[in-house]
Amino acid sequence: MIEPIEHAADILSKAKSAVALTGAGISVESGIPPFRGKGGLWEKIDPMKVAHIDAFLDDPETVWKLLIKDMKTVLDTARPNPGHIGLVDLERLGILKTVITQNVDGLHQMAGNSDVIEFHGNFAWQSCLDCNQSIKTSQVDLTQMPPRCSCGGILRPDCVFFGEMIPHDALIRSQRVSAACDAMLVIGTSALVQPAATMPLIAKDNGAVIIEINPEPTPLTSRISDLPLLGGAGSIMPRLLKAIRRRGPST
Ligand code: OAD
Repeated sequence: MIEPIEHAADILSKAKSAVALTGAGISVESGIPPFRGKGGLWEKIDPMKVAHIDAFLDDPETVWKLLIKDMKTVLDTARPNPGHIGLVDLERLGILKTVITQNVDGLHQMAGNSDVIEFHGNFAWQSCLDCNQSIKTSQVDLTQMPPRCSCGGILRPDCVFFGEMIPHDALIRSQRVSAACDAMLVIGTSALVQPAATMPLIAKDNGAVIIEINPEPTPLTSRISDLPLLGGAGSIMPRLLKAIRRRGPST
């Protein structure tokens, strides 16, 4: 029987418009903890108390202290790992067109992917709740909590909190590219958060092959994924790329 990784390489080497949907798991090997599962952030803190927009607006100081400040420290030094690099190589081979990511860490862009849809926003920027001015997260003064804009207003990250809408363009484009792709790589997501978790269903309904990379089974694994590849993105992606390169350019 053909090995799943070889089978996935066969599919991808013939694909013309593959799309990747990524989640926190692809950045675990860059030192960023996931939200759920072993070592997950939500094991230590209740997301409804720190990651819901109502919690932030009620008590921005606590949310900055318990969540955003630590995120800044971790993300400041995080760099792409072989999982991210594999997606850049897939793009350079003409196979991958778009990355839809639920991550706010900017690592796909840092690695070099050119079309990244940030489904849950980006942590690199903050906005003032009063005057709406944008400020780079790297320039935020963390000595006062919560950090403030020069106008005195409180700063919030340009990320989607629970209870907020997905940015309209990101949602519409994600639905469109998911419906049009011939293969979807679903990497490092628990597939528990909507509407991101609907994208593999849209892709499958429109005839795409779903390849899932995750060390643990997810709700997609048995029903939606055609090819589940069990393991970490940082080890599976280089093996997958090697198998694709061995096949040579597709016609
Ligand atoms: P989760 O933390 O829910 O899931 C991470 C997934 O990555 C799990 O299925 C793990 O098994 C898997 N994983 C762990 N290590 C991995 C590795 N080395 N390689 C590949 N996979 C690995 O993360 P998301 O699905 O991204 O939303 O979570 C979705 C959303 O929930 C996030 O965007 C965030 C969160 O609350 C908001 O903040 C709005």
